[in-house]
Amino acid sequence: MNSKNLLTSKLFDETYHHTFNYISDYLAEVILKVLKDQSIVFDTGITMNEIFTKLTCTEEYKENVRWVIHYLIQQKKINEIDGVFFKENFTYKLYDESQLTTENIQPSMDVIRKIGENWPSIISGEKNPLKLLFGANETILWEKYFSNQHYLYSIHNYWAANKLAGLVSGKNKKILELGAGYGSGSEALLDALTSQHKEIESYTLSDISPLLVRKLKKNLELKYDTTRFEAIGLNIDQIKQNEEVKFDYIYAVNVIHCAKDPVQTISNLIQKMNKGGTMVISECTRGHYQELLHQEFIFSLLPGFEKINNERDYPNFGFLTPRAWIDILHETGVNDWCLEINPGPKCLGALMTIRI
Ligand SMILES: C[S@@+](CC[C@H](N)C(=O)[O-])C[C@H]1O[C@@H](n2cnc3c(N)ncnc32)[C@H](O)[C@@H]1O
Repeated sequence: MNSKNLLTSKLFDETYHHTFNYISDYLAEVILKVLKDQSIVFDTGITMNEIFTKLTCTEEYKENVRWVIHYLIQQKKINEIDGVFFKENFTYKLYDESQLTTENIQPSMDVIRKIGENWPSIISGEKNPLKLLFGANETILWEKYFSNQHYLYSIHNYWAANKLAGLVSGKNKKILELGAGYGSGSEALLDALTSQHKEIESYTLSDISPLLVRKLKKNLELKYDTTRFEAIGLNIDQIKQNEEVKFDYIYAVNVIHCAKDPVQTISNLIQKMNKGGTMVISECTRGHYQELLHQEFIFSLLPGFEKINNERDYPNFGFLTPRAWIDILHETGVNDWCLEINPGPKCLGALMTIRI
């Protein structure tokens, strides 16, 4: 996909929502098979405690198990009556991965399958999810997941990139990207700038991992040979204020949620901006906390996606609502900001623009 001429309404069109629902159902099918392999089939009804016992789940992962069971209820696979979970309406389908969508969602399927295969060993404490998911052999899994070839993920990059590129104006402008990671957000922005004939003075790639951005800088220098890149290790929880370098634009795709205190992080970032500057933050969201997102199955096992809601008998991990982001923006005290949500039936993302 090319970032040129992609209107937001086109990005979150019917195909996108259909594909999102497809992968959501795919995850439910994977979970059902994982549970079946552990002799949990919901035929005669089973309680949460019985499920914990069958899974030999450690205390640490009980919330993940609760999440999984409530995800199956959400996807209408099982039902709950008085604390007992029953089979609702499912057969164990075999997904034909090539049939239901023409878009590339293989990276989501691959990560879901990888976690599904190992989920019983993770929640019983036998396997460490970090070792499992971030070994040398898994790099390619994440590179493909956080890539513009991955239809489900790339949309958030294109959305933010088109927005920011449209706002870039004037000469000698400096951009800072946060949590640049594998660089799919960077490429989306650099392509959008090129297609809109916008020139910048420098593009600073930053991430908590200096290793990742050093590698990224080398790759991008080959592809965008007229752009001057910098690469810095920058932890958004530890932003120093007394540095001289300031930026005109700050760009952050799916990273500010990692901050321990997003209000403090955004406030600190504002101090790093030149007057007249703009910050664009793109985040995956959910419409409300009753909604469980398929991405939570993956990211609830990783740091940065903490449990965020204790009000129900099932948890939410990481992903906030637009309402929560609005509260965060209010708390920063900044005056000129706007938050957009994606078009379509489901709220899946928030795009925030802050002007200084
Ligand atoms: C979901 S990935 C997004 C990658 C990239 N923005 C993209 O969309 O392709 C989140 C990135 O944030 C980085 N990250 C996590 N915690 C961070 C922190 N405290 N400070 C800075 N970066 C962080 C991770 O290393 C990772 O590269």
